[in-house]
Amino acid sequence: QLEMERKVWTKAAFQRTFPERSEYDHKGDHGKGLVIGGSSNMPGALGLTTRAALRSGAGLVTAATTDSVIKRIASFCPEATFVTVPEINGHLKYGNDIDYKGFDAVAIGIGLGREAASRPVIRHAAAAKIPLIIDGDGLTHLKADLEVLDEREEPVILTPHPGEMAMLLDLSVKDVLMRPFHYAKKFATDHGVYVVLKGAFTVITDPNGKQAVNTTGNAGLAKGGSGDVLTGIILAMIMQKQSIFEGLCNACFVHGKSADLLIQESHSQHDLLASDVIEGLSLVYRTF
Ligand code: APR
Ligand code: MG
Repeated sequence: QLEMERKVWTKAAFQRTFPERSEYDHKGDHGKGLVIGGSSNMPGALGLTTRAALRSGAGLVTAATTDSVIKRIASFCPEATFVTVPEINGHLKYGNDIDYKGFDAVAIGIGLGREAASRPVIRHAAAAKIPLIIDGDGLTHLKADLEVLDEREEPVILTPHPGEMAMLLDLSVKDVLMRPFHYAKKFATDHGVYVVLKGAFTVITDPNGKQAVNTTGNAGLAKGGSGDVLTGIILAMIMQKQSIFEGLCNACFVHGKSADLLIQESHSQHDLLASDVIEGLSLVYRTF
């Protein structure tokens, strides 16, 4: 019974569900993704997400952020396009000037910071009628404004690490780590969202409580930036021809697998950086 409800996401599951690209594809077939976040103290995070989404098959990726963040990340992701959002003290504000039309999915919160001025940006994103991924500081803003989830019909995906999951549930990190399946399922079913509870073993839960666990990855990922890369991979994956649940499982699988292959081939857990994990994706896509 437990086995059925909590499936280990295997290489076979990845190979069965990972969508192929066809010879006649054009960029519109693979999704137009929007990433929103960044702040003067964390400019790189959004660059990592953008580049990871591009390396994971998205047709087009646009980053909406402040002018100063755009200047700092543009050369790291030359294939991306940009939208300038007004700022206050290095943080995004308003958000009502972002046009969601034409986008297939949006990821928000990456390196956003916790300034109250940025909170409306989340509310506006939640009003867009496309799948929404909320990561990092976006989760802190969401916690203060949880009603935004009530009005949503399109999928919402939350990507907390245990600290963020604990914050969302008003629990301690220790509580979450003792019963990760239980608490992820509780939040997912209570709020009708997908939850990707990250860690050495990442638990993926759908709004009905279906769960899978990813076992790829290693401690080389225990570094700032790894989560930002995962968010970009997730954004790309949920725009391909697979279910959201499968897309989330496959995103976690390739993220961890990239780190695993890099450690076998050219890196160690010590030196592995989040940006290496993006470049390592080619090893995964070529091998499997
Ligand atoms: N084994 C396998 N995977 C791991 C391991 C491990 N030992 N440690 C971490 N990971 C993976 C997680 O599964 C997740 O996919 O690395 C990623 C880490 O994601 P986050 O915790 O979101 O990290 P990130 O956002 O990049 O950086 C940490 O979070 O709490 C904030 O302010 C803090 O800036 C910091 C940021
Ligand atoms: Mg994070």
